[in-house]
Amino acid sequence: MMRGVQLAKLSVNIDHVATLRQARRGREPDPLAAAYLVTLAGADGITVHLREDRRHIQDRDLQLISQAVDNRLNLEMAATEEMLAIAKEIKPESVTLVPEKRQELTTEGGLNAAGKQGFLKKYVGQLKDAGLSVYLFVDPDCIQVEAAKNIDAHGVEVHTGSFAEAVISGQERELNKIVDAVKKARELDLVIHAGHGINYQNIKSLRQMQDIEEFSIGHSIVGRAVLVGLERAVREMIELING
Ligand code: PXP
Repeated sequence: MMRGVQLAKLSVNIDHVATLRQARRGREPDPLAAAYLVTLAGADGITVHLREDRRHIQDRDLQLISQAVDNRLNLEMAATEEMLAIAKEIKPESVTLVPEKRQELTTEGGLNAAGKQGFLKKYVGQLKDAGLSVYLFVDPDCIQVEAAKNIDAHGVEVHTGSFAEAVISGQERELNKIVDAVKKARELDLVIHAGHGINYQNIKSLRQMQDIEEFSIGHSIVGRAVLVGLERAVREMIELING
């Protein structure tokens, strides 16, 4: 089913602009400048992941972007007391809760929402009381999607990493898991985002799912931006999502 009038949004994850800056612990490239350019190029939102180890995005980046950039800010974070306090102070439009391990190169799997329902319900409740929309990053697994509903999250971000990494013979199986998870989330009236490992090729399969309201994409856009410029890289992705 091709996307008709229903357009999907793109939130650009600019963590890797900060990764490049942190390689020299200097000032450039500045994620704030990237947030402006991404916005000018027509993206619907900016995503940053403030990690516990501050390996890329710094507190200063989050503060400046939230104050200066007129675009929807989505804060990815682990469900910790420190991050709860930061989210309440910064008040991004949305928070996406992710699992976090210090040793990982990037977020590896979805949250075990089903196994931590009591804790997460309370945690999500505190964010919602502060006026924030809360999403849970979950594997494409109906049990996890149901748990997100029980936790009273506004929605889920379905983890597309296994699909993105699958060899050709396994891609259909992984895509079907996403299709099922999206269907379940729609039945439960959750808002549906998708992200991780999405690039200029695999977006073509994912964009067929009309119920996905927003794609969260970082590495492929920032990687392309090094070669063609950030605005062009963002515009080309928007074209693939909705063109
Ligand atoms: N969504 C979540 C929850 C993530 O942790 C990440 C990576 O930071 C992304 C989306 C973006 O993934 P990628 O950089 O592979 O596009």
